Amino acid sequence: MGKKIFSGVQPTGNLHLGNYLGAIKNFVTLNNDTENECIFCVVDLHAITVKQDSKELRNNIRETVATFIASGINPKKSIIFNQSQVSAHAEGAWILSCVARMGWLNRMTQFKEKAGKDKEKASIGLYSYPVLMASDILLYDATHVPVGDDQKQHLELCRDIAQKFNNDFEVDNFLQVPEPLIQKEFSRIMSLKDGSKKMSKSELSDLSRINLTDSKDQIINKIKKAKTDPMPMPNGLQELDERPEAKNLLGIYASLTNTTLEKSIENFYGKNFSEFKESLSEILVNKIEPISIEIKKLLADQKYLDQILLEGVEKANLIASKKIQKIKEIVGF
Ligand code: TYM
Repeated sequence: MGKKIFSGVQPTGNLHLGNYLGAIKNFVTLNNDTENECIFCVVDLHAITVKQDSKELRNNIRETVATFIASGINPKKSIIFNQSQVSAHAEGAWILSCVARMGWLNRMTQFKEKAGKDKEKASIGLYSYPVLMASDILLYDATHVPVGDDQKQHLELCRDIAQKFNNDFEVDNFLQVPEPLIQKEFSRIMSLKDGSKKMSKSELSDLSRINLTDSKDQIINKIKKAKTDPMPMPNGLQELDERPEAKNLLGIYASLTNTTLEKSIENFYGKNFSEFKESLSEILVNKIEPISIEIKKLLADQKYLDQILLEGVEKANLIASKKIQKIKEIVGF
């Protein structure tokens, strides 16, 4: 049976290899299965939980759409739209925030990481962001949500919110409790400069990540400069626990070539690290360069990108407005 897929990506610029291998690559596979109904959302309401420049935000929304298409998502087959244009998302988030409990949100590790030491100065939106995410998913009765490992906890919260709503209002199975789709291996791509930190768009050093808009030379340079350790290529999986940078690079290699970590270790055992890095660069360039070129091409045609969003908004609105209407009735409005 086909799945109902929903996922979102923040338009905050610098979409990177982590977003690609953790999420977007999976979106493309799901989109290619004709049995699935897919909805991919540019979550611009999530983006403003931290300060954004309005002009840049507008460009980043288009760039995220361009990245989806350049990566292989077919806008004729999947709905692509931006969250702010479908008002049910914000309305749903309010209602669900009256269902979610403070104690649940207090456990969210991403808020703690993002707010850092100065929690008092974080926006309320940053704190309640997982409730908005739940609203996104539940409005479309999504059965499956493809995400990277860092979103796992937010999805568990979404499941809890759906169950509590169904219980509180005695509406069995009204809100669909979604399943996460997280890749078993390499669902968390790490920084090229520090194997203990997630690859992220907010990291200051651009050398820490491969951006999906990087050129061939930039990719080669970043892999050359990627942190490693002085030991030879590893001989087995156990060794990698102590060698996070080597593990990450071998993991990226495995993910790009659709093999296992074990296979990529076997492939390179006994070779020099520099030889491995050359192979990795080549594979990365083959995969990312065409995407990067296509993103730039698509960005030159703003009208086309805006049209895709417009059509997506219309379709998404049709689904979400019906669901929010039912939610309101159930609540008693
Ligand atoms: P965001 O925009 O931070 O990231 C988009 C997707 O990329 C994945 N990802 C990674 N995967 C592996 N390794 C990494 N280093 C890495 N960095 C990012 C994320 O897991 C995510 O799948 N709250 C979400 C967006 C969202 C959403 C939703 C997702 C809003 N509503 C509803 C699913 C369903 C976010 O901020 O993702």
